Amino acid sequence: MQLFLDTTDTAVLKDLAQTGLVDGVTTNPTLIAKSGRPMLEVIAEICALVEGPVSAEVVAPDLESMIAEGRKLAAIADNVVVKAPLTREGLMLTRALAIEGIMVNVTLCFSAAQALMAAKAGAAFISPFIGRLDDHGADGMELIHDIRTIYDNYDFSTAILAASVRNAAHVRAAALAGADCATIPPSVFLELYKHPLTDRGLEQFNADWAKTGQSIL
Ligand code: G3P
Repeated sequence: MQLFLDTTDTAVLKDLAQTGLVDGVTTNPTLIAKSGRPMLEVIAEICALVEGPVSAEVVAPDLESMIAEGRKLAAIADNVVVKAPLTREGLMLTRALAIEGIMVNVTLCFSAAQALMAAKAGAAFISPFIGRLDDHGADGMELIHDIRTIYDNYDFSTAILAASVRNAAHVRAAALAGADCATIPPSVFLELYKHPLTDRGLEQFNADWAKTGQSIL
């Protein structure tokens, strides 16, 4: 499973990328606003920090401007993935850019039918929003299962990118459901490897090792 960071915080990104376990980055207009920086500058900086796909979202209201924005974003770096909303225009944008060889991540997906349409349009990634569906009283993980089945039934190559992930339990369930990738906030990245029993066990091992008075090096 590929792990992407859902952030525009380049300092945090730089730090976590050192683990070698960050496979890509996703952003959205809210995260760009949070950075307080010009979007094109932030995306370029992120693309230089990670080799994997970096999603940058179009914001224009009409198809023609969306296509122009998508091309401009894609020109920033080879690893830019244009993010398109799951609307009629967004699907048309996806199709147009896919024909040009530009990868598209279709975002704001809340139903399996929407995911089917995105795959048919040629999306490289589909982003089902698990956490927001849960908040809405639905079952976000059921959507991941449904999309996995549909994509497997028809051999769609669109990657399922579990988004709106709130905790490590979401990542576990998405992995079990067969999501290809998950995009997670930096706090969840840390949560994925932290365990109190690991800390307690290590403390004990270190204490016992100290008693031996030995050194390996
Ligand atoms: O970037 C898309 C998605 O991950 C947003 O998550 O927490 O705002 O629902 P959230």
